[in-house]
Amino acid sequence: MRVLDAIIRIRDLSFTWPGSRRPCLSQLALDVNRGERLFVHGESGAGKSTLLNLIGGVMLPERGYIDVLGRPLGKLSSSNRDRFRVDHTGFIFQQFNLIPYLSVLDNVLLPCRFSTERARRTGGSASAEARRLLAALDLDPRLAHRPAASLSVGQQQRVSAARALIGRPELILADEPTSALDPRRQAVFIELLMGEVTANGGTLVFVSHDQRLAPLFDRCIELLAQ
Ligand SMILES: Nc1ncnc2c1ncn2[C@@H]1O[C@H](COP(=O)(O)OP(=O)(O)O)[C@@H](O)[C@H]1O
Ligand SMILES: [Mg+2]
Repeated sequence: MRVLDAIIRIRDLSFTWPGSRRPCLSQLALDVNRGERLFVHGESGAGKSTLLNLIGGVMLPERGYIDVLGRPLGKLSSSNRDRFRVDHTGFIFQQFNLIPYLSVLDNVLLPCRFSTERARRTGGSASAEARRLLAALDLDPRLAHRPAASLSVGQQQRVSAARALIGRPELILADEPTSALDPRRQAVFIELLMGEVTANGGTLVFVSHDQRLAPLFDRCIELLAQ
């Protein structure tokens, strides 16, 4: 693996949740290459969500370091980390974290409101790009002005993916977004997500407890509970 191609570089990463006697992550090392589609599996409680939050700069490691796009996250101020995250990372949360009363379209457009970088990379019309992504992810265009809360789980998942992808962030972090779906619909969604990530030249880190999804990805690693 050529280090120069790494979009994420993790060394000696340890993290213990306050109040816990055991470390959640211990001395983890990981490189993720640009353009790679990585699957991280591990049983519930193994630390998958914790790892994604650390890569996303939501929290800081207790020990070790994480570089994303050559930037050491631990050396950025909290506000610079927030800015870096919205400029370069699309996060698909397990529970989607859509704003329930906002429309589908306004939810997808949120990253462009917070990041001029993301807005600029929509090629002129953020709204047209939001609609294109929703259509590419197979969401009925008639839902665009409906409040997000009125959609089914499968539909909300597509909205959440479009919000992560808009403005072509280099890194997409997905935290078990398909866990509520049956295997066939999981695979269809992952194929659509990967199609967009690949077309944008992005990198995907997808975590799940469900090892059956592993063959859909370029590489698979297992996170073991400590
Ligand atoms: N906010 C938190 N406060 C304290 N402990 C937490 C918190 N979030 C997760 N943990 C603990 O960290 C461990 C890993 O959790 P998590 O990263 O959510 O695992 P996974 O996503 O693999 O199920 C678990 O033991 C969990 O109880
Ligand atoms: Mg989790």
